[in-house]
Amino acid sequence: MCGIVGCILKNDKAAPVLLDCVQGLEYRGYDSVGLATYSASGIKIKKDKGKIKEVSEKLHLEELPGEIGIGHVRWATHGLPTKENAHPHTDCTGKIAVVHNGIIENYKELKDQLEDEGHQFTSQTDTEVIPHLVEKYMSQGVGLEEAMNQTISKLHGSYAFAVISTDEPHKIMGVRKESPLILGVGDGEYFLASDAPAILQHTRRIIYLADHETFIMDADGVTVKDREGQVMDKEIETIRWTPEMAQKGGYDHFMLKEIHEQPEAVKNTLFEVSDIKKIVSKFPEFKRITFVACGTSYHASMVGKYLFEGLLGLPTDVILASEFEFAANALDPDSLVIFISQSGETADTLKALKIANKKAETLAIVNVLGSTATREADHVIFTRAGPEIGVAATKTYISQLTCIYLLVACMSGDKELLEELQQVPDHMKKVFSYEDKIKDMAAKYKDAQDFFFIGRGFSYPTALEGALKLKEITYIHGEGYAAGELKHGPLALIDDDVPVVTVVPPGKSHDRTLSNVEEVKARGARVIGLGSSEDQVLKYEAHDMVEFSPEINELISPLIYVVPLQLLSYHISVARGIDPDKPKNLAKCVTVE
Ligand code: M6R
Repeated sequence: MCGIVGCILKNDKAAPVLLDCVQGLEYRGYDSVGLATYSASGIKIKKDKGKIKEVSEKLHLEELPGEIGIGHVRWATHGLPTKENAHPHTDCTGKIAVVHNGIIENYKELKDQLEDEGHQFTSQTDTEVIPHLVEKYMSQGVGLEEAMNQTISKLHGSYAFAVISTDEPHKIMGVRKESPLILGVGDGEYFLASDAPAILQHTRRIIYLADHETFIMDADGVTVKDREGQVMDKEIETIRWTPEMAQKGGYDHFMLKEIHEQPEAVKNTLFEVSDIKKIVSKFPEFKRITFVACGTSYHASMVGKYLFEGLLGLPTDVILASEFEFAANALDPDSLVIFISQSGETADTLKALKIANKKAETLAIVNVLGSTATREADHVIFTRAGPEIGVAATKTYISQLTCIYLLVACMSGDKELLEELQQVPDHMKKVFSYEDKIKDMAAKYKDAQDFFFIGRGFSYPTALEGALKLKEITYIHGEGYAAGELKHGPLALIDDDVPVVTVVPPGKSHDRTLSNVEEVKARGARVIGLGSSEDQVLKYEAHDMVEFSPEINELISPLIYVVPLQLLSYHISVARGIDPDKPKNLAKCVTVE
């Protein structure tokens, strides 16, 4: 996830405005920053790795000349956070500059072709193919717009990009496809950004672009065209956001924003499938899988165990990173040891990775490019969640799960599973239509002292994750339990009014989990049921229910059923007057053992 901006001003220098705009997008990435402006002396670029403030103090970004320009904040996806990989990127001549957000899935193939044709690349990014393609088509005699359209026809993946060229100065052009992009209309001044809050200080009049729409902006206005190149009559909407809301993109908290970004995070992570196939093709035959992780990443690993054992028949262990040293002696050298960590910097996980590296093949599934785990492991898969600011892991968990499902689908050759994964973003979006109901439930249950979360099989890690979220951001005691295990002790704790959240998607453990619902109800518990909209028995038994599409079976349910649990904890936290983004005693990245 990166952020792009651009502007054409009347009489002022663009650079200070671009700088202000990228600051509004810092939540989208903070690995590196760069601006390109056009003036009589051509396109000038300043960029480097580091936070906006540091880079700006060092390079004086605001001093770039000209009234037109583009800018970028980067969250590294392809290529480490370095000056060379920072945007804007240029063609061979430096006459074309591009900023891009998204992933160009087929960039390797395009880069090879362009290099064979003599183009010189200076970065490891996927983005750099865009200015080189535009250069190629312009050198064949077409204008910037036609060159951009021909470039778009070659790209696979998700992208929002903006391009400037010295051959057609005083213009900015761009496109949106599956990555956000809005245009701003000021008083004879025009803007573009990944997100409206970035340009709020300059205009509140916004044009929302849809997928495949392109735009051309100059001092006379903005033209938007559809996929067929027809000029569109786009509505200009006036938004009423305060600058304070800016960084959070209009949400009250980062956590809520990150929960709502999960469909996009899954979509982006699904693009990893080609890299995963390549990694899998190099694997020897493993006899065992061992997952190592902490906290939420440990729960993702547990889903991995059910997948590897259920679909591949491979014996799988899941070990807490802080306990790994006690199990390391028994590590099978024919194992693949998979480390899951959003930060790639968790001390317990890194220590375990060092030990495992001496004994077996290691794979890290990590969200932060360039983090220590990515440098230490034999293989690396990236979760494409973008930066996660809230301490409670949400979209990184979902992206970790997506990677594990992809890994298993690639190792087993299960095409049906790959297809099912494509439906996940849409299933998730439907859950958001239940948010008001979940908010009401939060108000109803916010004063409970203890919660239980129960589920069997694939729903057990979901129950554990629901309980962890609750503890972490509401300070209410939450206990996640395997539904069948409840009667072996914890049932003694169930009495009147203890909420028991029951995760019971359609599947083979459904009926037995419903028997456990009966058991807790008989002891006075209040049951919150998560199940299919066609589950009449659960509807009858539960005091409150969150309904899901009946198409979501047990196997795929961990990716979707956890979303209402994240929302429930979030809304309870807010109802109790807690800041869910900064829970007490906790840190986003735990770098001590
Ligand atoms: O960065 P990691 O995934 O290695 O972090 C592991 C845990 O510290 C983390 O998942 C923690 O449990 C979260 N705050 C839970 O929301």
